[in-house]
Amino acid sequence: LSSHEQANPSVVDQQTAPCVHFDHWKTSHTLLTLRPLYEALLEHPISWSDEHGGFWVVTGYDEIKAIELNPGRFSSAKGVFLPRPDGFPPIVALEQDPPDHTAMRLLYRQWLSAETIKAQEPMIRVLSRSTIGEFAAHGGGDFVREVSETLPVQIIAVSLGLEEEATRIHELTSLIASPGNPDAVFSLIELLQSQIIARRAEPKNDFLSTLIHSKLDGHLISDQEAIGWLLGAVTAGHETTLLAGAGLALQLAQDPDLQQRIADMPELVPQVVNESLRLHPPVLAFFRTVTEDCQTGGVTMRKGDKVMLAFGAGNIDRRRFPNPLKFEPDRIFSGHLSFGWGIHRCVGAPLAQLELAVLAEELLRFRFIVDGPVEFGPPTANGSFIGISRLPLAPTAGEP
Ligand code: HEM
Repeated sequence: LSSHEQANPSVVDQQTAPCVHFDHWKTSHTLLTLRPLYEALLEHPISWSDEHGGFWVVTGYDEIKAIELNPGRFSSAKGVFLPRPDGFPPIVALEQDPPDHTAMRLLYRQWLSAETIKAQEPMIRVLSRSTIGEFAAHGGGDFVREVSETLPVQIIAVSLGLEEEATRIHELTSLIASPGNPDAVFSLIELLQSQIIARRAEPKNDFLSTLIHSKLDGHLISDQEAIGWLLGAVTAGHETTLLAGAGLALQLAQDPDLQQRIADMPELVPQVVNESLRLHPPVLAFFRTVTEDCQTGGVTMRKGDKVMLAFGAGNIDRRRFPNPLKFEPDRIFSGHLSFGWGIHRCVGAPLAQLELAVLAEELLRFRFIVDGPVEFGPPTANGSFIGISRLPLAPTAGEP
């Protein structure tokens, strides 16, 4: 990190802001190496990076929130990745501004309402219990490959009515998140399109059938709109929940006292899930584009500037989280930014939190321990996601 002199600290713009050569997509980054970098960056909650054509790096908790709460000035519609992955169509809701965003988000909320999520809990429990039970039965192994890579996408597929396609969807969403597979997205589009055609011919009692008969701004949703929506649904909740699951499993497996505390006080699970999300944020960065010259957080931004929201840095901003690197499920203030904030705040958060809570409960039935070197992987999806890539676990208790 370096920083140039500030000639006039009251006017901080691209030229005078602290300049950091921060590249979110650098393959040497891991969740662990990012933490000290974030701590250094947090000296200036907003700085300027000269990588990828230049962008603002927003690390401060309050500064990230302020930007999230002003979508008119900080647009998502020009893409939330920097650079944008080749050939990937704009992601529905995530890469839209109001009013387009509003209608699509409403459809997500319909699918992910508190009621429907509650109704899915038994399905989530059955899938999690059988996956973790099998994993424990053969003595554990790599939790990432055997458990967290398969569960989230299976849950999403089943909840949409695409149970039989779950394996293929899983293959394709994994390919999409890793570099060098530009065709994977077209294969996934093809798969979704064929399912839409099948449901139009013969509706079933599933959400996909509801979706294709839904209205968007007063008109019947088109195939193209439905495909965009489905693409968002199956991609947004896969890699993120996978990485969050691995973070949570590590947190539990390396801390027998925590496992005991939860066994004694199961109501602690949601707090453990949230604290784990704070320290293992799956989304490294999403970007915004400035729509008009403006001042924010003491910095002058220009129309067209790119702005990186470093959620993981905001999560360890000591102005909000005292002793920020410590895992403390009893924190009074627990409003982490791992799901974002404002109108784009993750619409799948309640589902993800339920999946993670069930995961923790099912893992605790076997009291797992870490059983080998843990690997923290590099950023994927053009520097958007980050987390654990290998997590060897072994059960210490037999079948309960
Ligand atoms: C632990 C798991 C998850 C994490 C950490 C996560 C994180 C995020 C983040 C950071 C955003 C952007 C928020 C912003 O820009 O302010 C987001 C948006 C979104 N997420 Fe998630 N997500 C997770 C799981 C899910 C799941 C399970 C689903 C659906 C099944 C989902 C669907 C979406 C959608 C549709 C959006 C776009 C919302 C909008 O722009 O209005 N996510 N998520």
